Amino acid sequence: MDRKIALTGDRPTGKLHLGHFVGSLKNRVGLQQTHDQYIMIADTQALTDYFENSQLVVDNIVEVVSDYLAVGIDPELSTIFIQSQVPALCELTMYYMNLVTVARLERNPTVKAELTQKDFGKSIPAGFLCYPVSQTADITAFKAEVVPVGEDQLPMIEQANEIVRRFNRLYNTQCLKEITAHLSETKRLVGIDGKAKASKSLNNAIFLSDTPEIIKEKVYAMFTDPGHLKVSDPGKVEGNVVFQYLDAFHPNADEVSALKSHYRKGGLGDTVIKSLLNDVLQQLLQPIREKRAQLKKENLFDLCFEGTQKARSLAEKTLSEVKTAIGIDFFEKRNFYQRNH
Ligand code: TRP
Repeated sequence: MDRKIALTGDRPTGKLHLGHFVGSLKNRVGLQQTHDQYIMIADTQALTDYFENSQLVVDNIVEVVSDYLAVGIDPELSTIFIQSQVPALCELTMYYMNLVTVARLERNPTVKAELTQKDFGKSIPAGFLCYPVSQTADITAFKAEVVPVGEDQLPMIEQANEIVRRFNRLYNTQCLKEITAHLSETKRLVGIDGKAKASKSLNNAIFLSDTPEIIKEKVYAMFTDPGHLKVSDPGKVEGNVVFQYLDAFHPNADEVSALKSHYRKGGLGDTVIKSLLNDVLQQLLQPIREKRAQLKKENLFDLCFEGTQKARSLAEKTLSEVKTAIGIDFFEKRNFYQRNH
């Protein structure tokens, strides 16, 4: 049976956290049963904003691979590879860059949000602005039709599909495939401070590898309802981080909804809901942490090497189709000979 191809990636700029878990990792563990899945360590993309700190990117590759295996990504079922070691991706990026305008890149909502956050001012690195193009190369190189991502990545998929359609129309080919986002149930996990999304750079995330003590500390530091002063006061559930996490991680939705009504009425203290959430998260993360601790670094690199070899050959095949479509396949097969004689 021909399985559809799924592809995702993560920038290795830190360990993965609960936002990654609900946003994408959980989905990937399921997808590897039904799809031919590729998972990319996006070190090239990470360098677009960490080029001055490349060692951090290098050091985090093994951390991210550890997180993958710890949550149940099985290297027998999923191909894990390192982006920078697949040169065809850079070549594809170069050809796709002609099919997108600078204005369109600047309008990409994900890029726009990151630009504000990163404070580049007028000195935006061209590589950073173009990373959606490189992301299009990542996806199309493997003919991936399914991309399991969080909502924040939707503009990327849209931009990628624009490039795919433009390429296919312009060069009169079908060689690139349109992409569908495979969204998770949880829309977006907020940070423990209640601000924006959980993110390593904002330092407001619970990491999959956090110790039990740190997890507890972070849960008890969560933003709740500043107006909920006494236990007997009615409390707000909207914007309350503890309830957002209970929605995302508590296995019983009815129980959560009963807690919400109790909290709204008054009489349910923050400590009670925090202690419950702590139990839920400890239970979820304990086996992940234990599995992570047993992994051996050397094996992880071997596994990436094998995955990268497989990824290279597939990406090269697509690159050669792309070059043929453009007409720059001079030295492939007998084309060179035929054109010059
Ligand atoms: N942009 C993703 C992130 O922020 C990483 C990524 C790179 C990616 N290439 C991709 C995700 C292709 C999905 C598909 O982590």
